[in-house]
Amino acid sequence: MNIEITDLHFTYPGGLEALRGISLSIEPGEQVAIVGQNGAGKTTLVKHLNGLLRPTHGQVLIGDWDTTKYSVAKLASRVGYVFQNPDEQLFSKNVGTEVAFGPKNLGFSSEQLQAFVKEAKTAVPLDPAVKPIVAALAQVHERNAKWKLLINETVEIAE
Ligand SMILES: Nc1ncnc2c1ncn2[C@@H]1O[C@H](COP(=O)(O)OP(=O)(O)OP(=O)(O)O)[C@@H](O)[C@H]1O
Ligand SMILES: [Mg+2]
Repeated sequence: MNIEITDLHFTYPGGLEALRGISLSIEPGEQVAIVGQNGAGKTTLVKHLNGLLRPTHGQVLIGDWDTTKYSVAKLASRVGYVFQNPDEQLFSKNVGTEVAFGPKNLGFSSEQLQAFVKEAKTAVPLDPAVKPIVAALAQVHERNAKWKLLINETVEIAE
């Protein structure tokens, strides 16, 4: 599916002009990195692909869909978005539920969801990686708990 951006301008409500005349064409299967300095407008541009932001001027086409005519929920069936900070994106108790969340909201059956989760886990592959991640999180949790204890003690001493 093609992505076609034509003369895209975007100004934030406060008046900051973040994008000024971006035109970009991405072919099916093409991998594109959008690179630029902090504040250049990368996130602002990418948020136009799934309708989180709408053009002030110009046009964004996902296949034959003009993003101004489709909801974010509908566009999600064509555009996946991974947030910069995973804490803002992940909210399920386990990996399977998290992976199934998107397709479940698109109305797929539980058999299809199971197949998708299995396919996703195999593709990553996630299972061998889970143990180290869990161990690392436990370490962070433990460290934070120690810091909290230290801060409380310091506050008590200071008082
Ligand atoms: N919600 C907002 N309201 C007003 N201005 C914003 C908002 N979000 C971003 N901006 C401004 O728009 C410009 C582009 O920001 P953007 O976040 O798109 O840049 P970026 O290239 O993704 O930066 P980074 O590398 O830091 O992620 C910056 O000047 C930024 O301060
Ligand atoms: Mg950014």
